[in-house]
Amino acid sequence: TLKTSGFIYNMPSTAEFAEWLGLMHYMEVLMMITSIEYTAPISDENVTVTDTKFNNVPARLYMPRKQSSGLKRAVIYIHGGGWCVGGSAMEPYDLLSRWTANKLNAVVVSVEYRLAPMYHFPVQFEDVYTVVKFFLQNSVLVQYGVDPNRICISGDSAGGNLAAAVAQQLLDDLEVKVKLKIQALLYPALQTLDLDLPSYKDNENKPILPKSLMVRFWSEYFTTDVSLQEAMASNKHVPAESSHLFRFVNWSNLLPEKFKKDHVYASPIYGSSMLGKKYPGFLDPRAAPLLVEDTKLLGLPVTYVLTCQHDVLRDDGIMYVSRLREVGIEVIHDHIEDAIHGVLMFITSPTDLALGHRVANKYIEWLNINL
Ligand SMILES: *[C@@H]1O[C@H](CO)[C@@H](O)[C@H](O)[C@H]1NC(C)=O
Ligand SMILES: *[C@@H]1O[C@H](CO)[C@@H](O)[C@H](O)[C@H]1NC(C)=O
Repeated sequence: TLKTSGFIYNMPSTAEFAEWLGLMHYMEVLMMITSIEYTAPISDENVTVTDTKFNNVPARLYMPRKQSSGLKRAVIYIHGGGWCVGGSAMEPYDLLSRWTANKLNAVVVSVEYRLAPMYHFPVQFEDVYTVVKFFLQNSVLVQYGVDPNRICISGDSAGGNLAAAVAQQLLDDLEVKVKLKIQALLYPALQTLDLDLPSYKDNENKPILPKSLMVRFWSEYFTTDVSLQEAMASNKHVPAESSHLFRFVNWSNLLPEKFKKDHVYASPIYGSSMLGKKYPGFLDPRAAPLLVEDTKLLGLPVTYVLTCQHDVLRDDGIMYVSRLREVGIEVIHDHIEDAIHGVLMFITSPTDLALGHRVANKYIEWLNINL
């Protein structure tokens, strides 16, 4: 079969080159590269796999075949790809969901939300929210044989962002009676305000997710208008009217010394208020879950956060760990010293790495114990 994971290392430059040639939109190039890895919903001896819809939003469903008495656990999984690319059918995501379903004997729902640049915020958030809210109804849980007390939301990268945002917003939704037991946030993106954190500076040119691509993903989530991208690239996109939000992402308070290294905290530089008015999404906690008051964090489920040392998003995850712990939420933080962003993608050939398997096993083992 044609495998293209090797392209991952060249993704940004390949895509930039194509755009420079005027061939295609940058995101379409990324989409083309990642789409070759898509797999059909093929059942195996352990798991029945089907593509279905929950309240009109597509999702890939993994039902374990093992006969067991009693109700099953469930994991709702949100894939990564910067809100622009990727899919539940991508080979590494499909494999991770199978492993989860098999190891935990759990129902796994992998959400196929709509992507940018065709759709912008809040469509991605709302698609995921729609599936989660639909699934958490008692009548639906009964249909799938799921225990309402043992449900997890999990996601990586942009999917970790969506998982964290959905978990927060559910707390205020009086129509949802079933509570999530745990959330797992795998190298999540959690804030839009400061794109010059120590992790952005230290890992500006690291593979998979250089700063330029992350800025592109963030801005594309809200608009294709390059003025937001340019302002974000120079970290001057937040209007002075929103200065009160900076305390939620103040790395000088929220990062342990080890990650601050010799970086010096500088006060924010404000941008034009026009951008904030045109694209209010980037100041919205449904897009940036770190931008909420402490009181909004109360009631969140037990949380697993995975961070990678060589990742621009490292400090987003670490700051969320600090904020959650400060309000008394139980957090398990796994920090992988030798990993780059997207380490869980390296579980299929030709980039089938022992490290990818080790991290995947750690995460699934945590789910198995805590869910
Ligand atoms: C089915 O599950 C068994 C036991 O966990 C495992 O050894 C086997 O590889 C699984 N099969 C597939 C196709 O994943
Ligand atoms: C961030 O924290 C530092 C150290 O506590 C403080 O001096 C600075 O004023 C804070 N900045 C903001 C914007 O909250």
